[in-house]
Order: sequence, then C-alpha cells, then structure tokens
Amino acid sequence: MSITAAITGVCGYLPDYVLTNAELATMVDTNDEWIMSRTGIKERRILKGEGKATSDMAVEAVKGLLEKTNTDASEIDLLICATVTPDYFFPSTANIICDKVGIPNIGSFDILAACSGFLYALTTGTQYIETGKYKKVIVVGADKMSSIVDYTDRTTCILFGDGAAAVLLEPNTEGFGVIDSIIGSDGSGAKHLIMHGGGSLNPPTHQTVDNRMHTIFQDGPWVFKFAVTKMAEVAAQIMEQNHLTGDDVAYLVPHQANKRIIEATARRMGVGMDKIMLNIHKYGNTTAATIPLCLWDYESKLKKGDNLVFAAFGGGFTWGASYVKWAY
Ligand code: UT7
Repeated sequence: MSITAAITGVCGYLPDYVLTNAELATMVDTNDEWIMSRTGIKERRILKGEGKATSDMAVEAVKGLLEKTNTDASEIDLLICATVTPDYFFPSTANIICDKVGIPNIGSFDILAACSGFLYALTTGTQYIETGKYKKVIVVGADKMSSIVDYTDRTTCILFGDGAAAVLLEPNTEGFGVIDSIIGSDGSGAKHLIMHGGGSLNPPTHQTVDNRMHTIFQDGPWVFKFAVTKMAEVAAQIMEQNHLTGDDVAYLVPHQANKRIIEATARRMGVGMDKIMLNIHKYGNTTAATIPLCLWDYESKLKKGDNLVFAAFGGGFTWGASYVKWAY
C-alpha cells in the first residue's frame, strides 16, 4: 500500500492573558453584543511581555508535542512553520524554533499563506512523508497577531488573537492520514486584506509608521463575501472528489475567522453544527494556528478512522482543504 502522512500527535500553546470583549469596549467603540453576534468571538489570548515573539509560543507547542509523542528532538527530519508574524523578516521563524527546542541541523522553513498557512504547510509536509524522504515532520502554525493589529481600528482589533499549535506527521501504510489536499490562491484579492508596510514595496519609514501601514488592513465585508463562498466551495470540492457525503464526515475543522462563515460552510457541506470544531469564542482568529488548535481542543473526542475535512480561507487570497483520516 502507498504511504500516507498520518498526524500522530497534536499540541497547542496559548498565552495566559485573556483579552475580553469588555476590555476591547474600553479601547474602541464596540460592545460584546456586536462582537458576539457578528463574529462569535467572546475572548482571545494575547502574548504579553518584552522579548516574547511568535517563536516562543511555537516552541512551547513543539516541546509539548515531542513530550506527548515520546519523540526525541534528534528524530525530527524537517520542521515547517506557517506564520504571518515571523519573529524577523529573516531568518525563518522555523530556524529559530529548531534552535530553541534543540533540534539540530535539520531543514526548516516558513510558509506564508495567511489564514490558509497551516493547510499549505500541512500539504507541503505531507509530500516529504509520502515520497518516503522523511519519517518525522513537524508542522507548526503560530501567530502573534497582536503584533500587527491596530488597536484603534474596531473593525479588525476585535477579530484576532495569539496562539500556536503543532502536529507530527509520520508515514502510514494502512490508509490513515492526509488522503487528499487542495490549495489555491488569487492575488487579485491582495488589496482587500493586507499589511501595506515593511516589505520591499513600502520599506519602513517614519511616514509608513505615521500612516499605520504596519498593521492589518481589511475590507471586512468584501473579504466576508469571498470567504463565505470560497471556504464552502473548497470544502465541498474535497468531499466530492473523495466521494464523501455529510454523513461520512466526523468533523469539519474550519479556519476560525468568523462563526457566520463557518456556519455557511457547514450548510454547504450538509453537516450539522454538532460536527463542527469550534473554538473561535475562546481564541478569536489566530491565523495559522486555528486549525491545529481545534484539533488539540477536540483530540479526546476523535477516534481512529474518523473522516475529517479541514478548510481555510484567508489573505492572498488563499484557500485550502484537506481530507484526513484520523490515525489514533
Ligand atoms: O481570516 C482571514 C479572513 N478574514 C475574514 O474572513 C473576515 C471576514 N469579515 C468579517 O468577518 C466581517 O466582515 C467583520 C466581522 C469584519 C465585520 O462584520 P460585518 O457584518 O461585515 O460588519 P460591517 O463591516 O458591514 O459593519 C457593519 C456596521 C458598520 O456601521 P454602519 O456603517 O452600519 O453604521 C460598522 O462601522 O458595524 C460597524 N462596526 C462595528 N460596530 C461595533 C464595525 N466594527 C464594529 C465593532 N463594534 N467592532
């Protein structure tokens, strides 16, 4: 039988500080009722403290994963980090994570695909396992969104939170693991969800700082319309090409951007809300970390052989879906 990449462990990390809707209402003109009804978010976690970066959260998730799966750091062949909030422009946050965890000399790199980042990284990691090249690959999604959020913009600051989660991929010859994946993008959507400053087009200057170009810009309603359509479409597509009906699916694992987008995707897939992994109320949108954080939260409910559909949509625009047969 051919080799599939099985997820053999998952571990997350969330910072302690809880930013509630009530606290946000003291910072911008908003309220709990608006945020809950429009997004489903009640609170989110924020990484506080000098010198704390995305890698620090990823390191906790990776260390926890190694411990939980009884894996020695020296056994890891490759580490991929999905993030839009790297510690630095370069080097890769993945390089820093490996150094801090003590995984010496392996290949490691970052993937930037915004809210679809984890699925892009999972799809990439899967290839190295399926070809037989590597035996143990870590894929970590981590974002310190608070470092690029404008806390004077009520349309974005209510959405995002910080967090990280990692999965271990290992070869499986019994048909468990990542069975199929789709990734897609449309760069013409860039202008609707973007951080304008800091790159080679608009390098940092006093002016880019004054013009708030180093924080997230989002045309919310525009992104919402596209997200509702595209996330449902890609989830339906992966089901169709694998001959799955709503009854066959144990859980939809959606990117957690907005509860209303998730509900629309569930309707299109023909699955009830009892089959939807949901933690947006606790963590908000942690970008690359949402899907593995869901797996971590729901791990105890999962059974070997469960059919899971992962789906995401985000900046780029990017989107993705994976069909995963749970391996433990
Ligand atoms: O993960 C990456 C992809 N991102 C997404 O998928 C996010 C997609 N977009 C969304 O989730 C939604 O568009 C938002 C949650 C960002 C906004 O919800 P909406 O239902 O699209 O609201 P809106 O932007 O159309 O705003 C409706 C009203 C406006 O007031 P007026 O013009 O009707 O008087 C806004 O100014 O709500 C106002 N508003 C707020 N009011 C209270 C906007 N933000 C807030 C707020 N609190 N935080």
